[in-house]
Amino acid sequence: MNASVSLLRPAPSNPATRPELTEALRAAVTARAEAARNFLREAVAEFGTAGELAFANSFGAEDMVLTDLILQAELPIEIFSLDTGRLPAETYALIGEVEKRYGVKLKIYFPDAGAVEQYVRTHGINGFYDSVELRKGCCGVRKMEPLRRALAGKKAWITGLRAAQSVTRTGMALREFDEGNGLEKLNPLLDWSENEVWAYIRLFDVPYNALHDQFYPSIGCAPCTRAIAVGEDVRAGRWWWEDPTTKECGLHVSER
Ligand code: ADX
Repeated sequence: MNASVSLLRPAPSNPATRPELTEALRAAVTARAEAARNFLREAVAEFGTAGELAFANSFGAEDMVLTDLILQAELPIEIFSLDTGRLPAETYALIGEVEKRYGVKLKIYFPDAGAVEQYVRTHGINGFYDSVELRKGCCGVRKMEPLRRALAGKKAWITGLRAAQSVTRTGMALREFDEGNGLEKLNPLLDWSENEVWAYIRLFDVPYNALHDQFYPSIGCAPCTRAIAVGEDVRAGRWWWEDPTTKECGLHVSER
């Protein structure tokens, strides 16, 4: 073996996941967490405790903050996740870790098997790389249709969207009516910075996706997510072969 090639060298760790926990940052995060908790409590008061309010959990860093806020405060908010069938192994590992850590079983929705079979027979196993239309078709089958089932009968849903995540998200509000799905949409972390998200995770020892340390700030399906380079937009690794203005899966239809 060529000794100059070290295959075992550990990958460099993403410094964005380990912000320096200064007094100012701690204070900012504590205030933000309190505000988010109050926002969630008010949502429970408004939308009820009988399953009309649900949190869509992708297990990304923001969603882990929300998971922790909801479960630590024992808020009666349903937590669901859409398993597209093509998630990275690290995401499945995290789902298992969350279930153990918090002692919960999460509500996981899967795509319709017949629709996936039809898509793959028509377009191929990786047909989503061939055009934006085919990529959105895949998101439609694997995420949008299960989302519709998850939101059926709900009055409001909660997401981990942040305005600073991308050009498609800057115009969003803390609360907005989601025309596409016909219910209220709440984005409690809208104004949080990436630093604040990670400070919360570190301060409260929240479990997170191991891929974040490997420069994956935004994680979706495995074949449609890659690591980003230093200085790139946090969503640059999602559907990286597409123009930034098309890079939404359709879950957040009111975005520009
Ligand atoms: S998206 O384009 O995949 O929707 P992103 O990964 O930035 O974007 O997620 C934004 C928000 O959409 C998450 O905070 C979460 O609320 C919701 N979301 C995204 N993917 C899923 C999923 N697989 N299951 C449940 N919710 C999801």
